[in-house]
Amino acid sequence: MNYKNIKYAEQNKVAIIQLHRPKFLNALCDELIEELSNALDYANSNNDIHVVILKGSEKAFAAGADISEMKNLTLLSHIKEDFIAKWEKISTFKKPIIASVAGYALGGGCEIAMMCDIIIAADNAKFGQPEINLGTIPAAGGTQRLVKAVGKSKAMELVLSGGIIDAKEALDFGLISKLVPLNDLDNQTALLANKIAKKSLPILMLAKEAVLKSFESNLKEGMVFERKLFQSTFALEDRKEGMEAFLNKRPPNFNNN
Ligand code: CAA
Repeated sequence: MNYKNIKYAEQNKVAIIQLHRPKFLNALCDELIEELSNALDYANSNNDIHVVILKGSEKAFAAGADISEMKNLTLLSHIKEDFIAKWEKISTFKKPIIASVAGYALGGGCEIAMMCDIIIAADNAKFGQPEINLGTIPAAGGTQRLVKAVGKSKAMELVLSGGIIDAKEALDFGLISKLVPLNDLDNQTALLANKIAKKSLPILMLAKEAVLKSFESNLKEGMVFERKLFQSTFALEDRKEGMEAFLNKRPPNFNNN
């Protein structure tokens, strides 16, 4: 695959997608999003891939939507083509996806990290929604997912002030799951990805679907949904294998790809 703005690699059952537009701090231009979307389609279609890691560089995960591309857009052009709609490929991706964040994750960069299932950040990471400084507002979940991640007051502070928080604050507010030294970020991300990748792929996908349901339903609805998915795992060989392996005191050999 020949990509200009990203790099794609596979290691065991893990696909690593690196945003690679260093001159522009990985600003999310249309071409980059197109390539990212193609790479996700590829990872999705490859049954050997169980987990995806999305990363940037040491300086920037992504500094947001490409402001030079956005500058000339109009309401009419937005009505004709919603460029953010293409970004949703990340949030609708069905396999687990881990954001491995170093440096700036601002605006759309913070938003695509939040579209991922887990965020691991290096100690130099910086998160924020600075769109207010550009005379606009977040458009890819910054006013929605951020509230669910850190609560209303902190989300309001970030969205209204355009302020930036460091990785320690992001950890304290629950935006990220783990904070690690920059030189250990790849290693720690790989450790978690490999641990997840050993599980049954269809069961991972069901577990992810169940957790995501909690974002869009009340507790009662979510519990019903969870119960149905739990019951559906009993139609899969991997569920049988997992329980038999436990009872026979051996590691499971999941094959339901
Ligand atoms: N779009 C386009 N180009 C960008 C960019 C962006 N979001 N962020 C950085 N760049 C470019 C800069 O213009 C600069 O290019 P030149 O060398 O050609 O001048 C290059 O990347 C390096 O950037 P800086 O010189 O600014 O680097 P810095 O280290 O001094 O500052 C920064 C880093 C604080 C991240 C700063 O670049 C910055 O504030 N970037 C913009 C952040 C932002 O506002 N993001 C929100 C975008 S809007 C959005 O995302 C909408 C949405 O919700 C979908």
